[in-house]
Amino acid sequence: GPTAKSFLPTSDRTLASLCNAALVCESCELHRDASRVVFGRGPADAKLVIVGEQPGDMEDRSGEPFVGPAGQLLRRTMADVGLDATQVYITNAVKHFKFKLQGKRRLHVKPSSREIAACRPWLEAELDAIRPAMILCLGATAASVIKGPNFRITRQRGEVDKCDHAKWAMATYHPSALLRVPDEHARARMMAMFTEDLRRTAEHHR
Ligand code: URA
Ligand code: SF4
Repeated sequence: GPTAKSFLPTSDRTLASLCNAALVCESCELHRDASRVVFGRGPADAKLVIVGEQPGDMEDRSGEPFVGPAGQLLRRTMADVGLDATQVYITNAVKHFKFKLQGKRRLHVKPSSREIAACRPWLEAELDAIRPAMILCLGATAASVIKGPNFRITRQRGEVDKCDHAKWAMATYHPSALLRVPDEHARARMMAMFTEDLRRTAEHHR
């Protein structure tokens, strides 16, 4: 299927140039209902890149990744383990918000494999521009792009190995998934593992 490749700038592949080019991407259907592209944010010399799934409702309104409830949980946990968010590049596997309407509420819908594949050139170009030491994937969508389609969060979260774009790559739970776990004890257990994964990420990449 079509991918964002045809929208990539031919020579200037700095983050600013990529972000600018992505603003007009129409490589999949998601651009039609979303308000705007939510590109990655952070310094070009970041040692760590964190990859989420796709922007949510708040991100779609503000244009910034991880500023809603999941972002607050992520940023609070980063602070707890001593990861300085201003030094980290934070982005998503898919750059437009996918949702369904329920009354006036816009509810998150998982991106399809076709949409993930269409958007992949943006993420790869971001990683090529930054060349981070480590990539931390949040959830199955990011993990499938970085670690391959057979990766399973439940079995392999917290494992550190190399990937095409960095010396180290790890995947952990998506903070949105943690917020949705109904059982309090199960949620606390998963939160502890999530925090431990971020702590090990903080140790690894410096
Ligand atoms: N969830 C994500 O995966 N990314 C965001 O930017 C916000 C919520
Ligand atoms: Fe382009 Fe990605 Fe948006 Fe699809 S989701 S239109 S590939 S930026």
